[in-house]
Amino acid sequence: MTTWLNMTLQDGASPIMEQLIFFHDHTLMIMLMIITTVMYMMTTLLWNKHTSRFMLEGQLIETTWTIAPAIILAFIAMPSLRLLYLMDEIHNPTMTLKAVGHQWYWSYEYSDFTKLEFDSYMIPQEENQASTFRLLDTDNRIVLPMNSPIRLVVTAADVLHSWTIPSLGVKTDATPGRLNQVSFSINHPGILYGQCSEICGANHSFMPITIESVSANHFINWVSSLS
Ligand code: CUA
Repeated sequence: MTTWLNMTLQDGASPIMEQLIFFHDHTLMIMLMIITTVMYMMTTLLWNKHTSRFMLEGQLIETTWTIAPAIILAFIAMPSLRLLYLMDEIHNPTMTLKAVGHQWYWSYEYSDFTKLEFDSYMIPQEENQASTFRLLDTDNRIVLPMNSPIRLVVTAADVLHSWTIPSLGVKTDATPGRLNQVSFSINHPGILYGQCSEICGANHSFMPITIESVSANHFINWVSSLS
């Protein structure tokens, strides 16, 4: 989760998010190169007389400054497309979780197991205890096995919502009448936090997502304790 003064991305909790962070840093370096070059050119322009009796055209420089940006853009576009198609891939998921957005809470269905479904409401501030995080903790957390590919299907029952976990690199619109699919696997045990990120009404800010990432054994124990 994000804590005070954290201005950068959260640490990646899934292989995809790690790659997304690498891509972000790569793109930032290219931007830095462009910004320094442009700033240098704009500064030197201040000391330029802007006149030349003999320079009427410059085919070489025109060709260069047309093609160079295209090549630079390809260095961003190629890894971007690689990631885009990597995120679209479903790697033989071990289980499926269904998330349904409601005004204003999420409900979850573990369709691989019988009758395993529940609503997940934010724990209100009045009831907030020292062990919970304000506006981020839910009364029923999603429990998921770590190191296993998981398929997530997302939909909504009323209006648009968006199921978003920054540390997983997952952000999927929850649309009524539509089923969106993403896949991810969680790198480590722990608790991951997320929020709805589609302005969905008065209590949009109060429908957080909490995941408990546990070992496969713990997960099986949790499932069998509920059924
Ligand atoms: Cu649901 Cu915003």
